[in-house]
Amino acid sequence: MRLNQCHNFHDFRELARRRLPGPIFNYIDGAADDEVTYRENTRAFDRCDLLPSVLTGVRDIDMSVTVMGQKLDMPVYCSPTALQRLFHHQGERAVAAAAEKYRTMFGVSSLGTVSLEELRRKHSNPQVYQFYFHKDRGLNRAMMSRAKEAGVDVMMLTVDSITGGNRERDLRTGFSIPFRLTLGGMLQFALKPMWGINYVTHEKFRLPQLEEFVDMGGGASSIGGYFTEMLDPSMNWDDVAEMVQEWNGQFCLKGIMTADDARRAADIGCTGIVLSNHGGRQLDGSRTPFDQLKEVVDAVGDRLDVIMDSGIQRGTHVLKALSLGAKAVGGGRLYLYPLAAAGQAGVERALGLMRAEIERGMRLMGVTSVSQLSPDNLRFR
Ligand code: LAC
Repeated sequence: MRLNQCHNFHDFRELARRRLPGPIFNYIDGAADDEVTYRENTRAFDRCDLLPSVLTGVRDIDMSVTVMGQKLDMPVYCSPTALQRLFHHQGERAVAAAAEKYRTMFGVSSLGTVSLEELRRKHSNPQVYQFYFHKDRGLNRAMMSRAKEAGVDVMMLTVDSITGGNRERDLRTGFSIPFRLTLGGMLQFALKPMWGINYVTHEKFRLPQLEEFVDMGGGASSIGGYFTEMLDPSMNWDDVAEMVQEWNGQFCLKGIMTADDARRAADIGCTGIVLSNHGGRQLDGSRTPFDQLKEVVDAVGDRLDVIMDSGIQRGTHVLKALSLGAKAVGGGRLYLYPLAAAGQAGVERALGLMRAEIERGMRLMGVTSVSQLSPDNLRFR
C-alpha cells in the first residue's frame, strides 16, 4: 500500500498501522477503558442527516472561517498532539508545513518534540500552544511568557486531563516515555525495522517545550511521572481566570463539555472553547462533542467561539458540525495517521482530500460559504 492509494481516514490508518511498531500505533489508535466513547465520537455524526438545497449556483466555494481572531482558509485545523517525532522523524515540522500550505491552524503541545519558537519562525499560519497547568505557578508564568514572546497566536489549556485516562492498550505494550516495553512490545519493534532505522538516523527525540523546566532524563521522570508529579490536580476556575488575565490574548479551554462550564469559560474571559473528549482517550462513557454541540452553541455561541474535535473523519462530518454552529473543527488522528504513513506528504494529502471533500459537500449541499450553513441544513433521526 502506498500514499497515493490512501483516499480516506481508514486508508491512512491502515498505512500507519503497517509502518509503525505496534506499541506506537496503539498509542495513537487506542483510547480509554472499553473505547466506547472513541467509537461513539464518529457514530454521532450518523444520527443526523444533511438536507441539501439544489439549483443555488455553487461555482465559487469559500470555505474560509475566522476563529479566535484567526483567518483559516479551511475550517479544519490540526489539534495539538504529543510526541509527534515518534510517529515520523519529521514530527511537528511536517504538520506545521502542511497546515501552512492549506492556510490553516496547527497546534504545538507542551509535549511537542519541536520547539514552538522554531515553528513560529518558519511558518506564518496561526499557531496554537497546548498548555498544561503545573503546581509551580512560576513555571506556568515562565511557559506562558515564553509562548507570548515566540508569537503564539492562541493559548489552549487542556482541562480534561487532570489525570491520565486508562489506556489499556498502552498498559499491555508498556508504551511510556522513556520506553518500558514489555517483551511483547519489544518484539513488535523488531517487526518494523524501517521505523527503527529512521528513528536512530534522524535527530534525537527531545521535548523542547519542557526540557528547560523539567528533567525528563529518564528513570522516574517519565511522562507519566510528569503528569502525576508536576501537574496540579487542584487546578480550578480561579486559577484559570488568572491565567486568562495574564495571557491577555486569545485563550481557549479544550475539553469543555457542558453549557454551564461553557458559560463559566465566557465569564472568565475565554475567547473560545473546544468541545472535546480528547478523542475518547480520557473519560470513557462521556458524551460526544457533536451530541453536545447545539446545546453549548445555544448557551454561549454569542459570547465566544465554539469549536469541537473528536471523531471527525469526513468532510460531511465537518459540514454537520458547522451547521450546528461550530466555528471550526480540530482533528488529531485525522493527521497523525497520515504523518505516520508518509510525513509531510502524508499530512498534505490528508488535508487536500479533506478540503476536496468539504468543497464537494458544500456544492452538493447548495451552499457557497460556511455562513450559509445552519441547523436548518440538518435533521436528527
Ligand atoms: C494523550 C495526551 C498526551 O492523549 O494528550 O496521549
